[in-house]
Amino acid sequence: MLKNKIIVVTGASSGIGEETARQAKNAGARVIAVDINPPKIDVDHFLQVDLGSKDSLDALLAALPSNIDGLANIAGLPPTKSVESVMKVNLVGLKYLTLGLIPKLSDGASIVNLASLAGLGWADSLAEIKASESLDFDNVNAFCDRHQIKGARSYFFSKEAVIAWTIQNRWTWRERGIRINSVSPGPVQTPIFQDFIDTLGVRAAEDMLTMDRPGRVEDIAPVVVFLLSDAAGWIRGSNIPVDGGMYSHILAGKSGL
Ligand SMILES: NC(=O)c1ccc[n+]([C@@H]2O[C@H](COP(=O)([O-])OP(=O)(O)OC[C@H]3O[C@@H](n4cnc5c(N)ncnc54)[C@H](O)[C@@H]3O)[C@@H](O)[C@H]2O)c1
Repeated sequence: MLKNKIIVVTGASSGIGEETARQAKNAGARVIAVDINPPKIDVDHFLQVDLGSKDSLDALLAALPSNIDGLANIAGLPPTKSVESVMKVNLVGLKYLTLGLIPKLSDGASIVNLASLAGLGWADSLAEIKASESLDFDNVNAFCDRHQIKGARSYFFSKEAVIAWTIQNRWTWRERGIRINSVSPGPVQTPIFQDFIDTLGVRAAEDMLTMDRPGRVEDIAPVVVFLLSDAAGWIRGSNIPVDGGMYSHILAGKSGL
């Protein structure tokens, strides 16, 4: 499915990113793993980066080769981390890396952003999302103060903004055939699973009881691999929930279905 493609996977040293790197390699890709920590699995190349640092990202962008066929933006921090680091890694760094890499992407390349079920309320935050276009590494704290983004809200906002940014850029690079989509998992058993349960408290525990089981990395990675492949060529600017039916359950409840 990804034979001879060069795929960059951020967050490849743990959880969903690690499983995506493994499955992309099994599908024939040459995988460049990008993470703050070294990978535990066999990849073709590893580049260390702090996605929350502009200098580190500039060094990464200079080190990455040309003719990249896919970028899977999977690295992310949970809501238990500081507002500043969540916003920088999950949103500012993701956008900076993606935009910086466009000139090095092959025609027909695919970009896949890992969002979350936590971001599906993006349409209720449009004013803040539009204002976040001015976000940079230097003004995150001022932006969050101005827009009352505190505590776990940073995680929700970062994912809402990633979904909205994906939709916004549905056709931005269409003349080069470059596609962008996002995947929104429900709760998945990875090292940050407990962070979500701790932060979201009773609501998350209730939701977990509604579901038949939490997600596994093996539920999410195949969807990312598919979106990276040419088979997904007509999927553009889409956000795909992969959540055991949780998003539909929320929608059904809201609409009385
Ligand atoms: N696990 C879940 O329940 C869940 C649900 C929805 C969405 N997600 C999203 O999926 C993505 C992957 O999460 P996961 O559950 O696999 O988490 P994880 O903690 O297992 O993996 C995250 C990876 O990101 C890397 N990373 C963290 N900070 C970094 C930085 N500053 N620079 C570079 N790399 C950095 C980590 O080293 C790690 O390898 C995240 O974007 C997360 O928000 C997870």
